[in-house]
Amino acid sequence: MTGTARETLLEIDDLTVRLASGAARPVLDGVALRVARGESVGLVGESGSGKSVTSRAALGLLPAGATATGTVRVAGDDVLTMSAARLRELRRREVAMVFQDPRASINPVRRIGDFVTEGLRAGGTPARAARATAEELLEAVGITDPRRALRRFPHEFSGGMLQRVMIAGALAGGPRLLLADEPTTALDVTTQAEVIAILTRLQAERGTGLLFVTHDLDLAAAVCDRIYVMYAGRIVEEQTAEGLFARPRHPYTAGLLAATPRMGSGEPPRGVPGRPVSLAENPEGCAFAARCRLAAPECAAERPALRLVDGVSVACHRAEEPIHD
Ligand SMILES: Nc1ncnc2c1ncn2[C@@H]1O[C@H](COP(=O)(O)OP(=O)(O)O)[C@@H](O)[C@H]1O
Ligand SMILES: [Mg+2]
Repeated sequence: MTGTARETLLEIDDLTVRLASGAARPVLDGVALRVARGESVGLVGESGSGKSVTSRAALGLLPAGATATGTVRVAGDDVLTMSAARLRELRRREVAMVFQDPRASINPVRRIGDFVTEGLRAGGTPARAARATAEELLEAVGITDPRRALRRFPHEFSGGMLQRVMIAGALAGGPRLLLADEPTTALDVTTQAEVIAILTRLQAERGTGLLFVTHDLDLAAAVCDRIYVMYAGRIVEEQTAEGLFARPRHPYTAGLLAATPRMGSGEPPRGVPGRPVSLAENPEGCAFAARCRLAAPECAAERPALRLVDGVSVACHRAEEPIHD
C-alpha cells in the first residue's frame, strides 16, 4: 500500500470464539485481521480451520450458543456489542456476504427481482428506483435481458448465473465491505473463472473492501492483495500474495503451496500430509507440530505467537529456517 493509509473497514482483534460444549479448544483463538477500503484480502486454510466462523463474525453471526471475546469492528463499531437495530442496518447497507452455494442461500419460491431489491426496499428506496438499480446490477454481472430476469425464479438459472445474481444482490445496498465465503467452490472451473472476474472487477470499480475466504491458495493469490493463513483457529501467517508464493514462512503455508498442483502439470492435488487438529484436541504447543517436517522439541512444548520475521507476520518458532520441498 502506498500514499495515505486507506480507511480500515474491518478490524478484528484478539477474537476468541468458544462453542457451547464439547470442544477442547476454542474454534477461533486470538484472531486478528484487517481489511481496508478497496483492498482484497484472502483468508486461506483447510476445511475446519475456522474461516467461515471468522467471516460470519464480521456480520455479527456466531455459531448457536457460542461465546466470543475480543472485538470485531466494522467501520469503527464493534458488531459483537452493538444494538440489534444497528446490526440490522449494518447488514443491510455496509457489509454483504456471498456464500458458497447460491442455491442453498436463496429462497426458491421468490422471484430474482424480490431478492435483488430486498435490501434496497427495506432501506426505504421506492420500488421503481430499486428495480432500476437491480436491472443495472444484473447487467453489470452479465445477465442478459435483466428486466426479464427480475421476474424469473432461481430454478431457471444455472449455478454460475445464480451466483452472479447473488453478487448483484450483495452489491445492491452499496456495501463498503463484501465477504465472499468460498463463492465459487460449487461451480465448475470455467464458470468459476467468469464469476471471479466479475467479482474482482466490481470490487475494484466500487472500491469495496473484500474478504475472500477459500481453501484454494492459488485462487486467493489470483484475487487478493494480501493473504492470511489460518490453522486450527489461529492466524499462522500473513503477507502479500506475491510474498507468500515467493517465500512462505510458515511450514503449513509451504505445505499448502506444495499441495496445489501446478497448472498443466497433470498431477492430482496431494493435500498436506497428515490431518488437521479436530476441536476435540488441544495440543499444548504449535497445533501444526505433529504434521511439520521442521518440528523441533520446543514446537510441541510451547505455542508460537505471531511475530515479525523480515516484515512478515508468522507464528512459527522455526520461521528463520529455510523451507525445502
Ligand atoms: N454452528 C456450529 N456448531 C458447532 N460447530 C461448529 C459450528 N460452526 C463451525 N463449527 C466448527 O468450527 C470449526 C471451524 O468451522 P468453519 O469456520 O466452518 O471452518 P472452515 O470454514 O475453515 O472450513 C469446525 O470444526 C466446525 O465443525
Ligand atoms: Mg467454510
